[in-house]
Formats: sequence, structure tokens, C-alpha cells
Amino acid sequence: MAKGIAEEPSRLGEQLAEDFLGHLWPPFTQLQGLKPVIMERAEGAVVYDTEGNEYIDAFASLWTVNVGHGRQEIFDAIKAQMDKLAIYHIFQIANEPSIKLAAKVASLMPGDLDHVFLTLGGGESVETAVKMARQYHRNRGNGTKYMVLYRDRSYHGTTMTSTSAQGLTVNRQKFEPLLPGFIKLGAPYCYRCAWGKTYGEDCRMECAKVVEQEILFYGPENVGTMLGETMIGTGGVIPPPPEYWPMVCETCKAYDVLVINDEVITGFGRSGTWFGFEQFGSDPDLVTMAKGLSSGYLPLGAVGAREHVFQAFLGGADKAFMSGATYNGHPLCSAAGLANLEIIERDKLVERCAEVGPYLQEGLRTLRAHPIVGDVRGVGMVAGIEYVSDKATREWFPPSVGAALKVRDEAFKRGVFVRLLGGGHCNAIAPPFIISREQIDTIVRVLDEAIGVVERELGY
Ligand SMILES: Cc1ncc(COP(=O)(O)O)c(C=O)c1O
Repeated sequence: MAKGIAEEPSRLGEQLAEDFLGHLWPPFTQLQGLKPVIMERAEGAVVYDTEGNEYIDAFASLWTVNVGHGRQEIFDAIKAQMDKLAIYHIFQIANEPSIKLAAKVASLMPGDLDHVFLTLGGGESVETAVKMARQYHRNRGNGTKYMVLYRDRSYHGTTMTSTSAQGLTVNRQKFEPLLPGFIKLGAPYCYRCAWGKTYGEDCRMECAKVVEQEILFYGPENVGTMLGETMIGTGGVIPPPPEYWPMVCETCKAYDVLVINDEVITGFGRSGTWFGFEQFGSDPDLVTMAKGLSSGYLPLGAVGAREHVFQAFLGGADKAFMSGATYNGHPLCSAAGLANLEIIERDKLVERCAEVGPYLQEGLRTLRAHPIVGDVRGVGMVAGIEYVSDKATREWFPPSVGAALKVRDEAFKRGVFVRLLGGGHCNAIAPPFIISREQIDTIVRVLDEAIGVVERELGY
């Protein structure tokens, strides 16, 4: 296997690189000094750049391509829909694939999460869900319940609402002033408990109890929504303790606070169940989804709503949900989503995540032997590695050292793409569900090597 970054760029690569740096303004990217790598094609769990280098896509694009790259069935479904109806909106009207997709998603969600609002991505889903929660309270005569609780280290996208619920400083500070009424809570982050407690020892689930404390502090008449990723992702892949969501949901119910579980990463199988909230004991009123809904073949997201939420929007024009966008329910995106879900069901890919996920988790946990690896955690096909300068104190490296960034780059040179996140202190691994055990072995071996290289460079 030809791996690593080619020494000499090709002519095609050179032209693309010039146009990239000259014209394309990509998200979250410092272009100055960037050495462009341009992806050209992909197959299964492998992606190839314009120089012919190949990489294991250990992050499934951006935790997205869950069914793997190059699925002909999805291309065929999009083409078949194009031949019939490429675009028609769903404002007071509908198109066939959007109806079928909504019914399919509703059938996959447990309980009475029966209503589905289609969007084009995760941030838009969060934006929509928060607006839904606000209008829900207003429709029921509780218009003052506008406040939104969110958590430290959360990531919900880049709209102004998502940014206001952003728990990573680097992603929010530059955009102040943000929206009023967003209240930050400590995260259920046992490795770095905000209350200085140790799970299983002196922990009293302070992270869950703080929800009631803050509702009472701000007043139940003002707090309307609790927004949280079922499992924090971009903040460092942080599964909550099992007591967390059941306690939070009980509190929220008692104070008529709607729970939004952000399932943009965990939805559609990644955690080993169809939805993360099923295994983390949560009972959300609203669920935000994207990524795995279409495996990214076309932009697609959704908000799932329970019956009682939906009912609050019935009964007259002034009750209707007054939000949406031109491309909500787009026929081609819906067709891609349907074909994707059919593959996940037919090929039993959720079951595969539950079966192969532990193999990935076990392999990655061997990396804990490294002196700079503080923690390895995750569930199913999603894992995070957190780096520390000192295992005993759990102190992070200063940003100037950039240990996680260095490991990511060393792994990339060796043909494995993992992601830098967790405020720059973590790497995340979230491969397509179809990844083989052999490819998982390669990911673990390459990370082992990459961490070793960085350790030697840092003098460990
Ligand atoms: C939990 C979560 N919510 C929302 C989003 C935003 O999704 P998008 O980038 O599609 O707007 C992300 C993106 O990674 C996410 O991880």
C-alpha cells in the first residue's frame, strides 16, 4: 500500500492546490502555511488523494460516512429520484421521498417520537429544535420559558443558536455577544469532574443535580430547554455515567423543561444502538439528527419530536411552527437518506457496530500504556484519546506543544486519518461501520507508532 504524503505533487495537484489556497475559504482552517491535501476518490473505509496516497478514513469524513464510501445503491436512488422529481418544496405541500423518510425515521425511534422535521444538517437541526422548544412553551401560554441549559465542552454546530450553546471557548469567544438566555452547566466528564469528585467513590452525581439547581436559580418560569449531546463528541468523546440522563430527564419533566438530545453523531448506530439515548437511559422530547441519516451522501438532518410536543403546534395558523427553509424535505436528499437507512438495516450495520465496536475500543485502550495518554474512552464505533503531560496530575500540554495535533499529523503521514478535537487535547476515531478488523488493527498500530514518535520528540 502506497501510504503517506507524496514528496512531489502532481501537475493536477499543483493547480488544485493553487486554486484551493487562492479561492476556497474552508471552515475552521488557517490557510496561511497550509500544505493542501486534496481528496479525490474513496471506496469503503479508504480515501485517496490527488497524489495517489491512500488513507484509512478513521473518522468517516466527519463522523459521517457510516455505510462507507462508494455505495452504488445510494447513487442509484438519487438518480432514480432525479429522473422523477429533482426539487419540490414541502411548505403546505409534500413530495414522496420526504414523507417516506419521515415515516422511516419515526419507525426507528422508540416511544412516541413520531414526528420528523427535515433539515439539511446538524446545526440547522439544533437551531430548529431550540426554536421548536421556544414556540412549544409560547403555544402553551408559557412564553417566558425561553432559557436554554447547555453543557461545558458541548458542540452543536455553528449557527448563532448553536454557537450560543457552544461549550468550547475557541469556537464561541470570537462571536460575542451571543444570544441571551443560554446557561452553561458543568459537563458529565468523569476524567475531569468539575466538582472534583471521583465516580464510584465520592461522586453524588453533582453534574446531574446541577440541572435542578440552575432551574431554581433562574426560575422554572424562565427555563424551557435542556440541550445536550447524548454523548459529548467534539468536546473529547465523553460518554456520560449511566445515572446522568435518567436523573436529568426526571428533573426536566418535573419543571416542564424540554430535553433535546443532540444525536448528530450518535444517531443511526454509531454508539451500537440506533440512537445513543437508548443506551444512555435518556427520554428526550426532541432529538436532533444529521450525518449518519444520509451517511453524508447528500446534506440531510432532522428533528424528531414526541407526540406531546407536536400536539402543541396543532389548532390554528398561529400555532403552526413558523420556521423552515427552502430545501427542507429536499427530494434528492430524502431519497439518499432512505437508501442509506435501507443499507444500515439490510446489512445489519447497527448490530455490526455493537459487535465490532468493542474490538476497536479494546485495541485503542492498549494505547493507555503510553505515558502521554491520559484516557481512552468511547462506545461502539466512536472513541477519544486524551493526551496529558503528566498522568498523575492529568495536566494538559500547553497549546504551544500541541501533542494531539502532532499525533494526528504523524498518523496521517502513515496513512490513517484521525481527528484533532477536545479543545486541541484529544484525537477522535469514528470509522465507517463497515471497517474491517484488519483496518482497525492498522489504526491502532499506526496510532501506537505516532504516539511513540511524539513522545520521543517531547523527551518522554
Ligand atoms: C453533536 C453535533 N451537533 C451538531 C453538529 C453540527 O452539524 P453540522 O456540521 O451538520 O451543522 C455537529 C457537527 O459535528 C455535532 O457533532
